[in-house]
Amino acid sequence: MTTTNNSPVNVSKLGYVEFITPDLDRLTEYYTRALDFVAVESSPEAVYLTSSFDHHSVVLRAGNDKRARTVVGYEIAEDLADAERRIRDAGYTVERRSDIAPSTPDILIIDEPLTGTQLHLYDEQTRSGVKPDDSILRPTKLGHIASFTPELPALQNFYQELLGFRWSDTIGDFFVFLRCNSDHHAANFMASKSFQGMHHIAYEMRDLNHLQTMLDHLAHENYRLEWGPGRHGAGHNVFTYHKDPDGNTIELFTQLDVISDEAKGYFEPRPWHTDFPQYPKTWEVDLAAVNSWGPINQALLEH
Ligand SMILES: [Fe+2]
Repeated sequence: MTTTNNSPVNVSKLGYVEFITPDLDRLTEYYTRALDFVAVESSPEAVYLTSSFDHHSVVLRAGNDKRARTVVGYEIAEDLADAERRIRDAGYTVERRSDIAPSTPDILIIDEPLTGTQLHLYDEQTRSGVKPDDSILRPTKLGHIASFTPELPALQNFYQELLGFRWSDTIGDFFVFLRCNSDHHAANFMASKSFQGMHHIAYEMRDLNHLQTMLDHLAHENYRLEWGPGRHGAGHNVFTYHKDPDGNTIELFTQLDVISDEAKGYFEPRPWHTDFPQYPKTWEVDLAAVNSWGPINQALLEH
């Protein structure tokens, strides 16, 4: 007997992101020298980089134009064949490939609606061999990616209904935060009729000391902050933003909210919270939502 299961795909982790760059050497040097990532595999066409156990969390690919977030890879916690069937049953085109990248031998590929981004779903990567404790600089992991979308409700629905993401917070009517595990967000989407592509990508630092050590290092490397340090309201992470050599906005953060109860969606208590208990909500666009410590960088809120 065939049973029908139309539950969402069980995405459990943000895995990797791809950038296209006209200067592969320059962007590789930024990742390895400034951010202290490890280049696990490289060729004249592409470099695979990691900061963690995963084989890669960043793929830099040589190309004529700068393009960010051309591919996003998500780990899923279920059988690939079953996920493939449910995606197809939901009306989406899905392709299964085994020749895409080292370390991920089996990948489902679907197109993210309206953005041109290709999504990869896989069950695990091989290990990178990188030890997280052998560097005082290296970020602990790829944390989240924020991007623009012309149709926010449709994309939010795609992520929640097809890929199993849960709603964590919204700022105003234009900025949505979604999670695929207990981290407050792995994906955020900003509604925009003017902009497209990536808004920013964020790497996690383990604590404030780690963040400060990295910021001092970046200053020595001549990378200066565009905003922060500050504390966001939605997610409550301490944030800093700077630009990589291609002009992509890079966030380094720590202390992101953890959703300790997935069923109820409330957050573990922390002294900087103002709601007890704290549930996902829609925030006003003000200092409490954007930067409770003070200044707002308006350019980063344009949409
Ligand atoms: Fe962020």
